[in-house]
Amino acid sequence: MNHKLEIRNLTKMFSTEEGEMAALEDISIEVTPAEFLCIIGPSGCGKTTLLRMVAGLDHPSSGKIILDGKEVKRPSPDRGMVFQEFSLFPWRTVLKNVEFGLEIKGVGDKARREIAEKYIELVGLQGFENHYPYELSGGMKQRVAIARALATEPAILLMDEPFGSVDAQTRNILQEELLRIWKRTEKTILFVTHSVDEAVYLADRVAVMSSRPGCLVKCLDIDIPRPRKRTSVEVNEFREKLLMLLSLERSKACISV
Ligand SMILES: Nc1ncnc2c1ncn2[C@@H]1O[C@H](COP(=O)(O)OP(=O)(O)OP(=O)(O)O)[C@@H](O)[C@H]1O
Ligand SMILES: [Mg+2]
Repeated sequence: MNHKLEIRNLTKMFSTEEGEMAALEDISIEVTPAEFLCIIGPSGCGKTTLLRMVAGLDHPSSGKIILDGKEVKRPSPDRGMVFQEFSLFPWRTVLKNVEFGLEIKGVGDKARREIAEKYIELVGLQGFENHYPYELSGGMKQRVAIARALATEPAILLMDEPFGSVDAQTRNILQEELLRIWKRTEKTILFVTHSVDEAVYLADRVAVMSSRPGCLVKCLDIDIPRPRKRTSVEVNEFREKLLMLLSLERSKACISV
């Protein structure tokens, strides 16, 4: 079960005190079923805005987002989102956090619990079902967020710098776990990151965005077989290519300021 996402000529304007500002400009990309696509780009280039629109939380000024032939107009359990900041409900236990989307969908008590437990196990948090977020480490909280996003069995998983606020070692572990989950569930994943290392380790393809207004500069296929070695020559070559593209974008941003 996997799904196709098309983003067609997407532009997003925001009204600010200084007038209309373009955050995204004419973005077009097709994400193939079960693809792992990473999006990188300078801060403020519109990565979160792009993901929020795919999630249906915000609307394009022009252009379209099409999932399985249907235009995206509003949020749906079809699209699971893991946000940039931890976004668990502090008053709910791990189990209740993971059950949240299923409650919204109207899934009955027993089925809800079974599904939530399955995903809690998938992210390696069995035994913590009755803990509250404040009792968990950053890495554990992100695992809960991933389980919560997966529990409604979305067609697409949207992840906005999900590992940005955990330490380097936990980040590596979470990356490996995400790859395992991706393989097991065959989800299509859109993953925003600041880290070139993370993009090269995870992605089938990396989309590089320009500084504001964000447009697509280049898509790079990372055709390195998995499991990838973080220190291999091929990984380093891709890392260098991406770093060069990004520094070019940053220098353009400095010139235009
Ligand atoms: N609701 C809003 N109203 C006005 N401007 C906004 C709004 N949301 C985002 N922006 C602007 O749009 C641009 C893109 O923001 P966005 O958060 O998508 O960037 P980003 O690429 O995710 O940045 P970062 O890497 O720092 O997370 C920024 O200039 C931001 O100030
Ligand atoms: Mg962002």
